[in-house]
Amino acid sequence: MHAVTKTSPVPFLDLSTQYKKLEAEWLDAIRATGARGSFILGPNVTEFEKEFAAYVGVKHAIGVANGTDSLILSLRALGVGPGDEVITTPFTFFASSEAIDVVGATPVFADILPDSFCIDPASIRQKITSKTRAILPVHIFGHPAEMDEIMKIARERKLAVVEDCAQAFGATAGGKVTGSIGDTGSYSFYPTKVLGCYGDGGMITTNSDALNEHIRRLRNHGAVKPFIHTEIGCNSRLDEVQAAVLRIKLRTIRNDIAGRQQVAAEYTKRFAGTAVKTPSLPKQGMHAFNLYTVRVPKRDAVRQALTDAQIGTSQCYPQGLHLQEVYKRLGYKPGSLPVCEHACTETLSLPVYPGMPLDHIERVCEALLGVVKG
Ligand SMILES: Cc1ncc(COP(=O)(O)O)c(C=O)c1O
Repeated sequence: MHAVTKTSPVPFLDLSTQYKKLEAEWLDAIRATGARGSFILGPNVTEFEKEFAAYVGVKHAIGVANGTDSLILSLRALGVGPGDEVITTPFTFFASSEAIDVVGATPVFADILPDSFCIDPASIRQKITSKTRAILPVHIFGHPAEMDEIMKIARERKLAVVEDCAQAFGATAGGKVTGSIGDTGSYSFYPTKVLGCYGDGGMITTNSDALNEHIRRLRNHGAVKPFIHTEIGCNSRLDEVQAAVLRIKLRTIRNDIAGRQQVAAEYTKRFAGTAVKTPSLPKQGMHAFNLYTVRVPKRDAVRQALTDAQIGTSQCYPQGLHLQEVYKRLGYKPGSLPVCEHACTETLSLPVYPGMPLDHIERVCEALLGVVKG
């Protein structure tokens, strides 16, 4: 962590410094790709899929175009469709529930746990009906969901589990890497993610040979071999040039995650004993800290003070998905999912990225505590 002047803005995320470090290596990889002339599903994608599967500890990893498609194709391969219900969390990015709608199924929102912000297994149990086909937990902000309990429910009720790991690359739950526990794990390589590329990208992990084969077919127009199509698929392939940067980044990802955890620990130390509720850590597992999200009184005033001090923040999430206009038809009302709705009034995500300067951390804390204590 290096010193910077007190007047410089504190960005929510600094991707350009990291890019500069990798630029020469990535440009070499792009030149090599160009020289090979293999731009779609070439050797970078094949090798990255193997390296990714080894990291997560699964049999198969299938590169796709983005994280949203990784959810859609997982659900499709599992046979989820019209007439089915999928239980998910309302405290997540819209793509998690949107994917359920895209395959023609209905999202059913369960409430969340107040500390981890992940889906509450007790609420899942209450939402199961004869139409429920799957559970879609999200490891939100990098905190693993309660996978032991979720898998127990899934086994008892014969439900599929699609883990949304978009924000949780490298997080662990009960000794396992997230994405290796459910039927499928779904990843986004959107640039702001723990493992992000320089465009869009996604990955699906699974231990099932049948799902692997089906998803590989779906991502490539439902083709079993060139020009032979056995079902309607789509074009959702991980780009060869993005796979090149992801391979480079994967080599040092453990350090990057440790860097995020270090920043998180610095914040948590400084907020101890104040009215700021710092992120909980999993009892058995590891938080990947894609986002460092606190609960604060006077949240809107705090956010404004940080903005005035040129400090970037994000409000994840301002509204539970169950109350989004698009879901009016599902009939949720304010108060339907009180833990989520309360979280939406108090949460604020602070800057966190590997190598964030120490005096930036201090400026965030100073500005925030100035309002909370005042
Ligand atoms: C929890 C969650 N799920 C899914 C997605 C969708 O990923 P993508 O933007 O790569 O489609 C995101 C991305 O922001 C996310 O945060």
